[in-house]
Amino acid sequence: MGKVTTATLKAKKEKGEKITMLTSYDYATAAMVDEAGIDMILVGDSLGMVVLGYENTLSVTMEDMLHHTRAVSRAVKNVMVVGDMPFLSYHISREEAVRNAGRFIQEAGAHAVKLEGGKERVGTIKAILDAQIPVMGHIGLTPQSVNQLGGFKVQGKDLETARMLIEDAKALEKAGVFSIVLECVPTPLAKKITEEVSVPTIGIGAGPYCDGQVLVINDMLGMFKGHIPKFVKKYANLEPVIREALLNYKAEVEAGVFPGKEHSFNMSDDVLEKLY
Ligand code: KIV
Repeated sequence: MGKVTTATLKAKKEKGEKITMLTSYDYATAAMVDEAGIDMILVGDSLGMVVLGYENTLSVTMEDMLHHTRAVSRAVKNVMVVGDMPFLSYHISREEAVRNAGRFIQEAGAHAVKLEGGKERVGTIKAILDAQIPVMGHIGLTPQSVNQLGGFKVQGKDLETARMLIEDAKALEKAGVFSIVLECVPTPLAKKITEEVSVPTIGIGAGPYCDGQVLVINDMLGMFKGHIPKFVKKYANLEPVIREALLNYKAEVEAGVFPGKEHSFNMSDDVLEKLY
């Protein structure tokens, strides 16, 4: 597989081939995602919740995002890296939005950026595109608007909001985004949007008819003990595996079982004798 670009994704939609995307926040994980042949890595601002321990994504800063995007970029060969623009990095002015989007490319090695919002973001998106930076849209449940939305809820369930989401998707397509994330929208609505726009839709909690899927990697690997959203499928359950490994390590160190001979280094008797 060669390097994934926006053209690769467009061709996949045209051929009806599904697109794969996962989040990653560090070098080691990104290397595995790249080796698995996943199309895109999103260095998501979900970083705030799954790595930095915040309650939501609103506290994540540009510096946090750049730090983790750099680690991911250093690991990848073929995957397309999308940097997620954090809260307030694109809301204040178009100029600031372009500067911040540019930092993802210039300082952190990302290939594209993602930002949340529909029609209201068209001017900002066009300004970023003018700087030759590919932009991915994100509509439906947009976690940076959690306070305005009144929680993490499915969006577009009534006629008015469903129509608004279709209009938003079309506005983003017209603005020139290369792809649109649809988060937590009913399956039939995601299907309709996918049919009506020419750019690939990437679903998360949006059913099987999107052109591609994205999941937060910590969720799909089962790194958490607590609640995970309904739309997540756990492809592994690592939390109990890690917990057992930690308990075994503690027990073996405390009992003097680890390190054994096979984990230790020796030296010649000659040298040793001279030490005593
Ligand atoms: O930050 C993130 O991980 C995201 C995905 C859930 C799409 O925006």
